[in-house]
Amino acid sequence: MIDIHTHILPGVDDGLQHIGEALLMAEDAAAQGVTMMVATPHLHWAGRQPLSAAQIRESVEELNGLIQAKGVQLTVLPGCEIPLQPDLLQRLQSGEWMSLGDSGRVVLVEPPWESWLPSGRTMLQSLLDAGWIVVLAHPERTPALQRNLPLLEDLVQMGVYLQVTTGSLIPGRASPAAARCAYELMEHRLVGVVASDCHGLNHRRCDMGEAAELIRRTYGRHVAQMLTTGVPRALLRGEKVQLEQVWKNTRTDESRWKRLLRAVLRRETDDG
Ligand SMILES: [Fe+2]
Repeated sequence: MIDIHTHILPGVDDGLQHIGEALLMAEDAAAQGVTMMVATPHLHWAGRQPLSAAQIRESVEELNGLIQAKGVQLTVLPGCEIPLQPDLLQRLQSGEWMSLGDSGRVVLVEPPWESWLPSGRTMLQSLLDAGWIVVLAHPERTPALQRNLPLLEDLVQMGVYLQVTTGSLIPGRASPAAARCAYELMEHRLVGVVASDCHGLNHRRCDMGEAAELIRRTYGRHVAQMLTTGVPRALLRGEKVQLEQVWKNTRTDESRWKRLLRAVLRRETDDG
């Protein structure tokens, strides 16, 4: 599997803080079947100096060296989580901000948390018009988007890929609003990719293996493979995948996903 949204790079944001933790996370992810992760730190965090593309590349190289030395079968690619703001395209084109996997083709864009920007759609369209593949991070957890299915449907029709978080699909890990939105997006076949957005070893850990198994049981092997491996691999190569290809011949065991959603909604939440 390929996890395109992670905070494995230590000491740069609210993700892991120590290199030892990053190695444990790499080991844990590899044990679940993850062979590649993209490090996607926040660029601005807690009043620190903004993280540069050069710093990210350097830290990722160092981390890969240590992962290899430990004999863990996992590769980390550089990347970042880019905020949706008006000068986004210029910052990408100038190389100040980094594309996903340093691919020069695909970007991971974080939507504003509380309220959607009136110009948000136009900003995303300008990225698409400039030839970028756009992945929108965790819309199901974003209060500005999670109750606006028509907007999310519109963004998918424009060509934006929605990345749903593994934890939003697993009972006990998400807020009711996030879980409900995640399952609505799955049910409407609007999800393009699933990633962990892992921040720690226990809380918000990498749970790709568990999520993939749950998707397989609910939507079948093909969908699970595409959302966790096929689509992320293609996007990192700069290739688009039609959602029809992802969701084709999907059998929906409706009673199962409704049962799952009920289980998710019954639990306490720790989303944030
Ligand atoms: Fe993130």
